[in-house]
Amino acid sequence: MKLEEYQTSSTDKYYTETYRPQFHFTPESNWMNDPNGMVYFEGEYHLFYQYHPYDTIWGPMHWGHAVSKDLIHWEHLPIALSPDENGAIFSGSAVVDWNDSTGFFNGGSGLVAIFTHADQYSNSERPRQRQSLAYSNDKGRTWNMYKGNPILSDISITDFRDPKVFWHENTKMWVMILAAGNHVRIYTSHDLKTWNFASEFGSDTGSQAGVWECPDLFELPVDGKNENKKWVMIVSIGNDAAYAEGSRTQYFIGDFDGSTFTNENSKETVHWLDLGRDNYAGVTWSDVPAEDGRRLFIGWMSNWKYANETPTKVWRSAMTLPRELNLVTTIDGVRISQTPITELETLRKENTKFENILINENVANVLSNIKGKAFELRAEFELETASVFGFKVRMSNDEKTIIGYNVTEKKLFIDRQNSGETSFNPFFACKHEAILEPKNNRIKMQIFVDWSSVEVFANNGELVMTDLIFPDCNSQGLELFAVDGNVHLTSLDFYDLKSCWCKK
Ligand code: FRU
Repeated sequence: MKLEEYQTSSTDKYYTETYRPQFHFTPESNWMNDPNGMVYFEGEYHLFYQYHPYDTIWGPMHWGHAVSKDLIHWEHLPIALSPDENGAIFSGSAVVDWNDSTGFFNGGSGLVAIFTHADQYSNSERPRQRQSLAYSNDKGRTWNMYKGNPILSDISITDFRDPKVFWHENTKMWVMILAAGNHVRIYTSHDLKTWNFASEFGSDTGSQAGVWECPDLFELPVDGKNENKKWVMIVSIGNDAAYAEGSRTQYFIGDFDGSTFTNENSKETVHWLDLGRDNYAGVTWSDVPAEDGRRLFIGWMSNWKYANETPTKVWRSAMTLPRELNLVTTIDGVRISQTPITELETLRKENTKFENILINENVANVLSNIKGKAFELRAEFELETASVFGFKVRMSNDEKTIIGYNVTEKKLFIDRQNSGETSFNPFFACKHEAILEPKNNRIKMQIFVDWSSVEVFANNGELVMTDLIFPDCNSQGLELFAVDGNVHLTSLDFYDLKSCWCKK
């Protein structure tokens, strides 16, 4: 059914198609990939996104647009940017030009989008990617292409895209970081229109298992201490046929002086942002008010390995939950932690609580009376003799997604081999795992399950796994299990979650 028919025939069924996420962002219809232009301005969080309005597969890119007051409930707005004589609209960012450094705002302030125009060199198949500007005088409702576009190009580099711009207070300059093949480049500007090359970083560093895309660069306190801040660079790396993981996101920690980034780890060190398969091209919001102070992140919840093949019909792809990023000291050194934003607590319905239960193979499933398609679990376990324990979710006789901890190997895992529909791509059905050290002999898990995803935030977000799943809508069972002995469940909260798309 076409979306228009769907909406007129049954508005109460809005956003209830098979697999439609209930508390994640999805476009009403058609294809979406990267989040773009995320900026907070005059009480609204803006989310733009790579959008193909005429099909459910990738195509000529536009910027779709939505706004929210709480990052949970979104209002869809008309397409913000459409292809023009300079090409399609690839990924990029947006900033508030507070002091009219561009001259676009008559001495006032407004929104400026900085994005990649993508087309081809004339008479050739060779892609041409150049950076351009658009601006809005009306809180992002309408956009003007800057007459001087493109504002930055480099004929020597084919993959030259995804500009992320921010204001660098110490040098009083705009800074742009963009992806350039196997590295990032940094440029600076006084007016967002004229850019000077400052430095490049990364061609011999980190993971090179795919083309570099969608970088971001920002400063964060370590362990919440403002006297100890470090800079974080996020870099997504594209799908490469040689790697089962497909597209994924790495990050670097170090220092930035306004023109050069210095990595504090060795060149060989690779930090992955998310150890699941479906968190790509994520970047952070610009201009979040200082009194809020959070570094807010959202990613595209898919993977170029199979993104065009996932089994949805009306729309294709969702965003991850919005997350707060922090730097924390772990036994391995300073790392990013990701925690779901606290606004999500407003979606909680009734709570079912469990405390102090010994779980083993002889104890009946404590969750046997609970059913859920969209819910949150918060659990803390004290390790005992069990070698493996965890949850089975979206379960039926034929289907289950297992979120578990292997005590012997100290590994958190998600097993989606029997999670439901997996046949659309041979790489989808998989089990993956990552090292997670217990803290005081305890493991904490905060898990969000939606109609087609699982997000696991372990030990306060020090390890995160984000995975798509496509279970049957009747697979709603849950199980808490332990193998080869006991695990002590110190506490567990189950919350059914409301839909954020309900129109009433
Ligand atoms: C990342 C990406 C970007 C590009 C956009 C095109 O997923 O490949 O590098 O700008 O998608 O849609």
